Amino acid sequence: MASSPTADNLGGRFVSIDLAADALVLLIGISASGKSTFATRHFRPTEILSSDTLRSLVSDDPGDQQATDEAFELLHRLLDMRLRRGRLTVVDATNVQDWARAPLIATSRRHRREVVAIILDVPIAVANERNRARSGRRPPLAALRRQHRWLVDSLPSLPDEGVAAVHHLRSVEAVDGTVVNRP
Ligand code: CTP
Ligand code: MG
Repeated sequence: MASSPTADNLGGRFVSIDLAADALVLLIGISASGKSTFATRHFRPTEILSSDTLRSLVSDDPGDQQATDEAFELLHRLLDMRLRRGRLTVVDATNVQDWARAPLIATSRRHRREVVAIILDVPIAVANERNRARSGRRPPLAALRRQHRWLVDSLPSLPDEGVAAVHHLRSVEAVDGTVVNRP
């Protein structure tokens, strides 16, 4: 017998996500899972804190790994400023490791904002194909596999970390079919 669809994977066809007006949205996904595409589609440019964009702002190169520490320093400071004001904010970074999520969640707790995780869990092969089609930085397949392992390991611990709602989008169709509702 086929299992019945869950709220977050209605047969992979349609997912509806309700957000508070002052929420922190954590996108979680391996490289080329479609995080930046999803963010641009559903949110205003000023609502998105992207690690790649912030790397570009400090070094003119979104892939400059030597700019990572400063990019995240900026990301954390901007997040603090926005959540203090109650501005809905989306963090567009892989966020697959608990130590990467911890300071973001701590900031949301400080300002009493709800954390919503949206997990873009597309097949590694799809992400790898997309990466190969891209110019510039192309993480090797081994890096994608490692990120995906961290993603899978994260799933059970997100509620304990302080994430109020977890939306696990388990396919390209689920990611593409998602609707985001906000006040
Ligand atoms: N892409 C696609 N179809 C989608 C979503 C994305 O073909 N439904 C393509 C994008 O055009 C881009 C690539 O896949 O060339 C990666 O998408 P992106 O949104 O940039 O993925 P991210 O998860 O943001 O990748 P990164 O972690 O490297 O920033
Ligand atoms: Mg991106």
